[in-house]
Amino acid sequence: MSESVRLEDKVVIITGAGGGLGRSHALLFAKHGAKVLVNDLGGSAQGEGASASAADRVVAQIREAGGIAEANHDSVTDGAKIVQNALDVFGRVDVVVNNAGILRDKTFHKMEDADWDLVYQVHVEGAYKVTRAAWPHLRDQGYGRVIFTASTSGIYGNFGQSNYGMAKLGLYGLTRTLAIEGRKNNILVNAIAPTGGTRMTEGLIPPQVFEQLKPELVSPLVVYLGSEQCEETAGLFEVGGGWIGKVRWERSLGAGFDPRQGFSPEEVAAHWQQICDFEGAAHPQDNIEALKEMMQNLQKYAL
Ligand SMILES: NC(=O)c1ccc[n+]([C@@H]2O[C@H](COP(=O)([O-])OP(=O)(O)OC[C@H]3O[C@@H](n4cnc5c(N)ncnc54)[C@H](O)[C@@H]3O)[C@@H](O)[C@H]2O)c1
Repeated sequence: MSESVRLEDKVVIITGAGGGLGRSHALLFAKHGAKVLVNDLGGSAQGEGASASAADRVVAQIREAGGIAEANHDSVTDGAKIVQNALDVFGRVDVVVNNAGILRDKTFHKMEDADWDLVYQVHVEGAYKVTRAAWPHLRDQGYGRVIFTASTSGIYGNFGQSNYGMAKLGLYGLTRTLAIEGRKNNILVNAIAPTGGTRMTEGLIPPQVFEQLKPELVSPLVVYLGSEQCEETAGLFEVGGGWIGKVRWERSLGAGFDPRQGFSPEEVAAHWQQICDFEGAAHPQDNIEALKEMMQNLQKYAL
């Protein structure tokens, strides 16, 4: 048995924790001893309206079970207020779980600016605002764990979700850079791409599968990533239905051309199979590793 995951002295902010996956994360973090700021605006799945009751209900449930939690009803787009609230009631912040989300699904030819903007604002700007406000505190204390909620719709694409896919994979881009910038201050940053039966996926997933995709099957990964035991950073994990897997970039070794001569579109066409051949592919971990094959090509033709 591994050492138990305890978070007694840790303060965790979970956005969008009034229902669905966030609620499940909040309950599990509290069960493991964390003090939890349960944030939720309490609007509809499309981002309309607001209500305090969602967050309040989760806080009541945590307290009934003997846990410690406070409610916050701000929008993630007011991230500084959420972080200030955690500092006011708990005196610190250690873990940020960026989970709040909405859907405004439309095929791209029907996409309106309002749908594009609102999805961007909640997922990307909201996660930015909350994390940006927490960041100096995490740096100063030399400790932090940040989790972003991406989606397979961003990783692989999904019909009718151009706005959502853009936002969700954008969060993984943010994860990669914050992991690099946070490392020296012991701030570890990871992303999850969950699948869970929530109001967001109700009607989209067949009912019998929906029942099995319990949000509780996502939260153990999130609590682990939010714990001191976790040493992972810059990771992306697909999780759901009792299964967890790690995602990484893969790039073909590619085709090289003489950079002194340049090359034609016809030569690109002639080498297409080689460009797309994943035999022996590279798995670059960072920008430097990603440049390896290009630099080798330059060296090959250097005078
Ligand atoms: N359920 C899935 O299968 C699935 C798949 C991929 C990604 N996700 C992501 O997981 C996260 C949780 O989704 P869920 O399935 O639990 O859906 P959900 O609708 O049950 O939960 C989202 C919560 O975020 C809150 N919220 C929305 N806008 C907010 C704002 N501006 N400020 C604060 N809170 C706000 C909502 O009130 C809601 O309680 C989302 O980011 C979603 O995109 C879910």
